Amino acid sequence: MVYLKAFQNHYNSVIALAPGVDARYIPYLNASLGILSVYLVYRIIFPPARPNGQVINAQQQAKQKSQPLVYTKFTPTTLQPFNGVIEERVLMAVKGKVYDVSAGKTFYGPGGPYSNFAGRDASRGLAKGSFDEDMLTPIDMRIDTLEDLNEEEIQALNDWEQHFAGKYLRCGELVEEL
Ligand code: HEM
Repeated sequence: MVYLKAFQNHYNSVIALAPGVDARYIPYLNASLGILSVYLVYRIIFPPARPNGQVINAQQQAKQKSQPLVYTKFTPTTLQPFNGVIEERVLMAVKGKVYDVSAGKTFYGPGGPYSNFAGRDASRGLAKGSFDEDMLTPIDMRIDTLEDLNEEEIQALNDWEQHFAGKYLRCGELVEEL
C-alpha cells in the first residue's frame, strides 16, 4: 500500500511538472519510457557485438588494461590479435622486437593512419616509408628477413627502431611459429 501511495505521489508530481502535457497521454509516455528502460537494461547485460563479432564489456576492458605486461615470445599468429580490436592492447614488432604501442593508439588503433602495423611486423613498412598492406608479411609465412633492404632503408629502419625503443615499452620478441 505504501508503495502504491508513493507511486501515486510520484505520478501526480510528474503531471504537475509537465502542465503542458495532456493527462491522457501520460500512460503512453510511461509506456514509452518503460520500453526504453527495458532496452537500456538489456544493452547493459548484453553489450552489442564489435565488428569482428567479439563482445567486450566494461569489466573485461578494465581487466585487460590492468593485466601486467609480461615479456613474452610472440609468433606472427599470436601477435596478430594485439591490434586494438581483438585485444585492447596494441603491440607491434620492429626488427624482431615487440613493443607495446598502446599509448600511440591514435596512430595504430582502429581507424588510425598506421593501423595496418598493429599486431604485425612493421619492419619493412618502416624501412621503406610505406604503410601499405603489401609491406606486411602474411602471418602464415616465415618472418621477413629484410635481406633485400638497401643502405638507406636499413638506416631508416634503425632510426625508427631507436624511436620505438625510446618511446615505448619492449614487451617481447617475434619468433617463428613453433
Ligand atoms: C603523408 C605523409 C605523412 C605525414 C604528413 C605524417 C605525419 C605524421 C605525424 C604528424 C605524426 C605524429 C608525430 C608525433 O606526434 O610524434 C606521425 C607519426 C608517425 N608516422 Fe607519419 N606521416 C606521414 C607518412 C608516414 C609514412 C609513409 C610512414 C610509414 C612508415 C609513417 C609512419 C609513422 C609512424 C610509425 C608514426 C608514429 C610514431 C610513434 O608511434 O611515435 N608516416 N606521422
